Amino acid sequence: MNKQVLLDNLRCIPDWPIQGVNFRDVTTLFKSAEALKEITEEMCDIYADKGITKIVGIESRGFVMSSAVAVRLGAGVVLCRKPGKLPCETVQESYAKEYGIDTIEIHKDAINENDVVLLHDDLLATGGTMKAACNLVKKFKPKKIYCNFIIELNSEFPNSRALFDKDIEISSLLQF
Ligand code: PRP
Ligand code: MG
Repeated sequence: MNKQVLLDNLRCIPDWPIQGVNFRDVTTLFKSAEALKEITEEMCDIYADKGITKIVGIESRGFVMSSAVAVRLGAGVVLCRKPGKLPCETVQESYAKEYGIDTIEIHKDAINENDVVLLHDDLLATGGTMKAACNLVKKFKPKKIYCNFIIELNSEFPNSRALFDKDIEISSLLQF
């Protein structure tokens, strides 16, 4: 992987949204044709031989890479959405955020027991979002679950990977 292309294109915004946070803005990776290609190719390299049948993209920044990679891997895309957005019957999972409870959902017929599922999101911070997404996908009893992030904030959140079951393989392209 040409990590430098990603580092050169990732915008960091100091003190946003609050003082002390150095916000990693993946929109500048997405708008760069070169960086977008690099992320796509790297993800495809990692998962090429895993037999992935569905990529679950997590709303909203996880949606972007999901379809690009799915097309290349010959997989389908499943949307993991915030509540009230999906039109048909769903399976839901709620999780605690810093303030209050959040819920995510997936269509009830989106995944089956023959699927090998890759969950993708742009960023791993506390891990709350992806952990909830994994719990949600586990309800469908797929053959295997993988998780991928573009960015893993493992300096600020060193314990996030420990949240996940040992049989869930996790990868990230950039670590800070
Ligand atoms: C951000 C980010 C991840 C999640 C990571 O999404 O895109 O999805 O938070 O945080 P965590 O590891 O602490 O759960 P956000 O909820 O801001 O929504 P968005 O993607 O729709 O902007
Ligand atoms: Mg998000």
